[in-house]
This record gives sequence, C-alpha cells and structure tokens, in this order.
Amino acid sequence: MNSDLRSDTVTRPSEAMRRAMAEAPVGDDVFGDDPTVNRLQEVAAKRFGFEAGLFFPSGTQSNCAALMAHCQRGEEVIVGQDAHTYKYEAGGMAVLGSIQPQPLTNQSDGSLALGDIEGAIKPDDSHFAITKLITLENTIGGKVLSRAYMADAIALARRRKLLIHLDGARVYNAAVKLGVAEDKLCEGFDSVSVCLSKGLGTPAGTVLVGGREFIERARRIRKMLGGTMRQVGILAAAGLYALEHNVARLAEDHANAQRLGAGLAALGLHVDPVQTNMVFVAVPQESVEGLKAHLAANQVTALAGPKMRLVTHLDVNAADIERVIGVFAGFFRK
Ligand SMILES: Cc1ncc(COP(=O)(O)O)c(C=O)c1O
Repeated sequence: MNSDLRSDTVTRPSEAMRRAMAEAPVGDDVFGDDPTVNRLQEVAAKRFGFEAGLFFPSGTQSNCAALMAHCQRGEEVIVGQDAHTYKYEAGGMAVLGSIQPQPLTNQSDGSLALGDIEGAIKPDDSHFAITKLITLENTIGGKVLSRAYMADAIALARRRKLLIHLDGARVYNAAVKLGVAEDKLCEGFDSVSVCLSKGLGTPAGTVLVGGREFIERARRIRKMLGGTMRQVGILAAAGLYALEHNVARLAEDHANAQRLGAGLAALGLHVDPVQTNMVFVAVPQESVEGLKAHLAANQVTALAGPKMRLVTHLDVNAADIERVIGVFAGFFRK
C-alpha cells in the first residue's frame, strides 16, 4: 500500500463523498440555478460569518479574483515573499489584475512584521502605487498565525484604511489547531478564500466569502477568468460533504504529523516543530538521492530534498505513519 506524503491535495474522494456527488441536485450555475452550489455558498458564508460566498474551481482563481475585486489597476497589495498569492500563483495579480505586489519577508512564524507592513504603506504621492490591501495566509507552511497577531494586523489595516484578505487554503487546519470556530478566527477580514481540496479532501473547489457587493464584483471577475461553470453542484456536493464530515478529523492529521516528526527526530534528523499537518525535515545533501530511491522502492511517495516537506491527510492513517517511519529508519539506521 503506497503512502503519498507530497501534499494534502493528493487525496481521493471517499465512497461516501462520491455518493453525495452522484446524488446532488444540479442546475446551470450561470443562471444561478444549481441548488447544491447555492447551498454550499450559503453554508460557507454563514459558517465564516460573511454575507455571501462564491464557488471557484481552484484556490488560485479564488485568490486572484479576490485581489482583483479589492484592487483597481495601479493599486498595491502588501503580501509575504513566501505567500502562495505572491510566489506560487504565476504572478496572476500583476499579469491579470495590473495590481502591484509589495512583497515583505515572512518572519519565522509565517507572519509579516507589523512594522514592516507600516513601513511599506505608500504615502499619497503621485510617484507611488496606491496601497490598498494586505494579504495574509493561515496556515502558512503548516504554521498557524496566532489570533493575537491576526487581530493586530486587522487593527493596523483599519487604522491605515486598508482592506485585508486571508488566503485560508488551510484555514480549517488553523481553526482546529487553535480550537476556535471559523467565524471567530476570521472576524475582521474583508474576505477569506477557503479551499475544500486540501485537507478537506474534495477533488476540486474553493469558496470565497466576503461582503455581498465584493462577491458580486468577484462573480464578474470569475466569469472573465473563465471560472464560471454549469452543473457544478456535483463538485459543490463534495464541498458540503467535506464541511460536514472532514473538519474535526483534521486533528488526526495533526496527530499523525506529530508522530511522524517525533519518529524522524528519533532517527537523529532535524525536524522543525510540527504545528499542523506538515512536517519539515532536514536531510543531509549527500543522502538525498539515496533516500529518494529508497522511499520509491518502499512505496513512500515524497518530495525528497535537503529540506523535505511531508504532509499528512485523509488517505494516510496512523498505521501508514508507523510504516513510513520504519522505511526512513531502514535508510538512516543502515
Ligand atoms: C496556501 C495556498 N493558497 C492557495 C493555493 C491554491 O490552490 P489551488 O491549487 O486550488 O489553485 C494553495 C495550493 O496548494 C495553497 O497552498
């Protein structure tokens, strides 16, 4: 039995999720006729404490539409160097939205230093782009931004009359880790992008939540980006199933990641403190190629490198984790 630890996006929909998808009532969502999409959007908006929600095919498109709905051409987003919205979305905000990113170094806890944010806000002067938005990410690299930090960042945004967006691709990992309801955790943000296809285990889909007018702007942008779909209740049904069944169980992924981290540390490897479902382990450069081959030969799929990321998810259980630790031990205890 292969264990795939490359990402929490590799999960396959369960039988029960597939059944919910097969049985979903659907309609043409361009006409607003898909009852399952409508329900998912309402449920997500309510759970996160926002007026409205909008279903997207991917987190990348949801983030891009959010940034474009918040910012006009020539306006600026303050964002982390390591943020998905900046580093891993092919420059979409600049290419498609004519939005200027102002990247800042992420601190070791994943946050953006408040002083750095203050320092990056441009004065009202015709030399400069107009600073409009701050974007945070939670979790980021498996790390949870604290509630106190998020409250301070939101207060800064309010004080400086900026908007603030949360890339919450894994916001439920943060909520479960902190033991806080999602509406409390996201209170004060102007919008949140919530992925359903990461730890929550759907084949695709992200819901963007925010105020009604913002969501209507995002709807037009989604159309422009080619993300408006038809009988997509089949996917939305997976999202509803996931919100119902796959949130609380993220704690299991976190426990499995803790166990994996401890098991690898016991082999003498340096493991970063594990907070949620991601384990970062340092592998001596001279061992990388050998480890890669050893893992592949022992049915462990992982992205081997000098700093290796291993991600737990729905499709690996505690027994799989023990097996994976054993496979690493077979290499490092030779
Ligand atoms: C933090 C974060 N935001 C956004 C995305 C984009 O999601 P998608 O792959 O659905 O476009 C990802 C994808 O892994 C992510 O990790």
